[in-house]
Amino acid sequence: MTDFRTLDAVGDVHGKVALVRVDLNLPMQDGAVTDDTRIKASAPTILELADGGAKVLLLAHFGRPKGARSSVMSLSMVIDAVQDVLGREVMFVPEIYGPVVEQTVGILPPGGIAVLENTRFWPGEEANDPELAKAIAANADLFVNDAFSAAHRAHATTEGLAHVLPAFAGRAMEAELTALQKALGNPERPVAAVVGGAKVSSKLDVLTHLVGQVDHLIIGGGMANTFLAARGVDVGKSLCEHDLAATADQILAAADKAGCTVHLPYDVVVAKEFAANPAGLRTCNVHEVAADEMILDVGPQAVEALADVLKTCRTLVWNGPLGAFETPPFDAATVALAQSAAALTREGALVSVAGGGDTVAALNQAGAAGDFSYISTAGGAFLEWMEGRELPGVKALQR
Ligand code: 3PG
Repeated sequence: MTDFRTLDAVGDVHGKVALVRVDLNLPMQDGAVTDDTRIKASAPTILELADGGAKVLLLAHFGRPKGARSSVMSLSMVIDAVQDVLGREVMFVPEIYGPVVEQTVGILPPGGIAVLENTRFWPGEEANDPELAKAIAANADLFVNDAFSAAHRAHATTEGLAHVLPAFAGRAMEAELTALQKALGNPERPVAAVVGGAKVSSKLDVLTHLVGQVDHLIIGGGMANTFLAARGVDVGKSLCEHDLAATADQILAAADKAGCTVHLPYDVVVAKEFAANPAGLRTCNVHEVAADEMILDVGPQAVEALADVLKTCRTLVWNGPLGAFETPPFDAATVALAQSAAALTREGALVSVAGGGDTVAALNQAGAAGDFSYISTAGGAFLEWMEGRELPGVKALQR
């Protein structure tokens, strides 16, 4: 991507104050961070600026405190994890603008790093209040946005600040946008998309957008049942949104028109109850699902056929598991197809990009995440990007 400035264009930052928007919306248990992936993602940006002598002020949100202070959502809780990842001492500042931040800037040495308080404690953050953006900017010289995963929010620190300070994409943002551009912006064809997950209703816009963009759309998870039912298949007591039959038909018709092949499973793994390794578990043709059975995974023959489809493709975008992957053995299809994609990527035959919600966990479970070309740490932002929407945080950087 060339239409926004990266840190390559930032110049000499020695002694300058850099506000860096990161995503510290981290999973926590009993007051401790349980997954520091997002801190690791932004560490190169933070260290590059600090090593250049900038005074680095980190801005981030945590949870949804709705514009009021909340002790259980204070970013003071993540300081230890941030220090561990960066290997540096990090200050915590319980404000995001005003005299306390000004004093912090006064005492921070060049290369010093501070985490400011949860930006969502101030109502102006989510309201994208320009006055709040100006007040935050008053203590700084430049703004670096490294939080792609929050870029679908038009908030003061994800969008507003880019209008009041010289703005740059951080290294994680740059890597994310470059990977996404390769995957759907200007991809090598043929392109395949895997879209899984429980409900068609939660990914309608994704499916509608993708049929016009990709050559193969592989639908898995509960949402495949809705499409099968729309085609007249009796899916027994499977999770299925029968009321969306007409919508599923429209998506299939749009795919047909656009020359996109939609792949639905033709064999499936079924059981009478949703439990780990339940009695009566069997694999059958989709037309043989009994009235008291539910579809819980894509069957092995379909997975083999899908792996063959991937072999003909140059680019893959993946969002969502193919089956009820948290419960064995219904992770089998996701694991097998992810491993095929990983092998093709290793061979240099495929560019593979994955992201959103459960996807990273599913690919980790398959031991495949490390071999994908790019794994996004974004949830909602990744989905909005797959819907073809313009993300306000990205757009503001592209001015
Ligand atoms: C995320 O965790 O996906 C981002 O930090 C955005 O959080 P939000 O959905 O609360 O805006």
